[in-house]
Amino acid sequence: MADLLTLGVLISGSGSNLQSIIDQIERGALNARIASVISNNSEAYGLTRAQKHGIPHTVLNHQDFENREDFDREMLRVLTDAGVELVVLAGFMRILSPFFLRAFPDRIINIHPALLPAFPGTHVQQKALDYGVRFSGCTVHFVDEGVDTGPIIIQAVVPVFAGDTAQTLADRILKEEHKIYPQAIRYFADGRIVKNGRRVEIRDAGSQDAALCNPPLDR
Ligand code: GAR
Repeated sequence: MADLLTLGVLISGSGSNLQSIIDQIERGALNARIASVISNNSEAYGLTRAQKHGIPHTVLNHQDFENREDFDREMLRVLTDAGVELVVLAGFMRILSPFFLRAFPDRIINIHPALLPAFPGTHVQQKALDYGVRFSGCTVHFVDEGVDTGPIIIQAVVPVFAGDTAQTLADRILKEEHKIYPQAIRYFADGRIVKNGRRVEIRDAGSQDAALCNPPLDR
């Protein structure tokens, strides 16, 4: 068996994506281990999840630091001490400094609850509803210096329904997040990701050519 990929997971809130990664590791479906969970929010439920599973976890409150770089330097220290190879942003609501990004080149990934490049930033489920799109979804991407602009690894699409609220849409998207994030990490762990500028190739990923229409075409 190949060596386990060592993950550091950064969170700010509920940590349901963290949980989906923990579950797949514990099920033996993901050849990785989580060496460190860091939250910038001491109230984040994700910390309780880490604790329940015996995962080392640290609270670093960004407000306790003079500036972004000092905060990032401390995160970097914790992650480096833990031997982290891949940094996984799972609902982490902070922008990372160039200094931090340079420490993990092509080794920081994020999950975003929209089909990038549509709707970067925050409150994106509401923005998708307000725009009137028929589909939204989620995206796992490499993190670069922009906000939600890095090369895309995997996306999942969900329909938007007439009666949706931001919450019902968020719930539908979140279910897919829990599938594609562990999958993206598995690509990494198995060495299947080939990055060519913006374009990311996944070795042996298969393909599916079914088109989706929402509403569906009349029969
Ligand atoms: C998820 O929907 C994730 O995509 C989003 O926050 C939620 C975190 O949920 N992330 C962002 O919006 C990042 N800009 P979780 O704490 O239950 O994993």
